[in-house]
Amino acid sequence: MKKKGKISPILKEEDKALDLALRPQSLEDYVGQNNIKKNIEIIIEAAKKRKDPSIEHLLFYGGSGLGKTTLSYLVAKKMNSGIRTIAGPSIKKSGDLAAILTSLKEGDILFIDEIHRMNSSCEEIIYPAMEEFRLNLVIGKGPMARTMDLKIPKFTLIGATTRLALLSSPLRSRFGATFRLDSYTMGEIEEIIKKSAKLLEVKINKQAISSIACRARFNPRIANRLLKRVRDFSQVEGGGTLTREKAEKALSFLDIDKIGLESGDRKILGVLYNKFDGGPVGLQSIALASGEEEETIVEIYEPYLMQVGLIKRTPRGRVITEKGKSYLKKENGGT
Ligand SMILES: Nc1ncnc2c1ncn2[C@@H]1O[C@H](COP(=O)(O)OP(=O)(O)OP(=O)(O)O)[C@@H](O)[C@H]1O
Ligand SMILES: [Mg+2]
Repeated sequence: MKKKGKISPILKEEDKALDLALRPQSLEDYVGQNNIKKNIEIIIEAAKKRKDPSIEHLLFYGGSGLGKTTLSYLVAKKMNSGIRTIAGPSIKKSGDLAAILTSLKEGDILFIDEIHRMNSSCEEIIYPAMEEFRLNLVIGKGPMARTMDLKIPKFTLIGATTRLALLSSPLRSRFGATFRLDSYTMGEIEEIIKKSAKLLEVKINKQAISSIACRARFNPRIANRLLKRVRDFSQVEGGGTLTREKAEKALSFLDIDKIGLESGDRKILGVLYNKFDGGPVGLQSIALASGEEEETIVEIYEPYLMQVGLIKRTPRGRVITEKGKSYLKKENGGT
């Protein structure tokens, strides 16, 4: 099980309602990712002109919380289509997938989340479905087995994944367009916080917005979660407009520092510096010395520590950068 700290972008049970409540309702409200939005608008427009009820199959990839699910729902909305969602891990047998495919209506979207975790035996079913809108089913076993060829309604598959490399290349190549969601700019995160505050009916000033944005690791889900935590904290403390002082008090209570690092990140940095002399050191050794799982380090801690330039990956292993060293010195009370 992955560790899920306050700043982990991975969806937690407690986030579900918040995610839903704050999900943008139109492509226009979806902040950033302008290139992707423009491409999608063109694809949809072109299909409308052709009077085609479906568009080419789309694949969205990028880290947790960057807006893949949101975008998929907005595509459906823009197309005026129905959308069926299914999680990759729940597709265990080809029959599971066949049942869904036959229940779709012309023009529907089938959204497969975490598509890299779909059982690979389902790929044989999904290829002809994606390419020719046909189902090739094998019924029965051994010498009695029969094949059945069924036509299915023309649909659009949208796949989402955080791990593109785990998708087989034949599957990847069957998507008409693949889009990578990038992390957001500080300005975009501030815009998201502003919109979310409005939806949550939280009064917040500009400085408080930027205090939260600095710590949101360029990720919309983390930004929304921090906003909610700060609001809750401040309500308990007496309420009123959220100012920088109130926001920072709440954020330091949550043990999130000025650049969005929490204790887990600091532990990884500390291990690298104190136990391995700053590196280079392999992932396995860091995991052992820190007591964190390798997967958690790779998926949660490392991407952001690298993004802010505190560690580097080299062919011989991970190293702490000069910036990382001075961060630690400051943390420990030095200058
Ligand atoms: N571009 C955006 N503009 C405004 N809000 C956004 C944007 N992207 C994401 N969000 C907010 O962040 C939340 C998380 O986004 P979403 O669920 O789409 O991420 P995801 O990429 O599907 O994550 P996961 O990989 O964990 O499934 C949304 O509910 C929404 O409130
Ligand atoms: Mg999602």
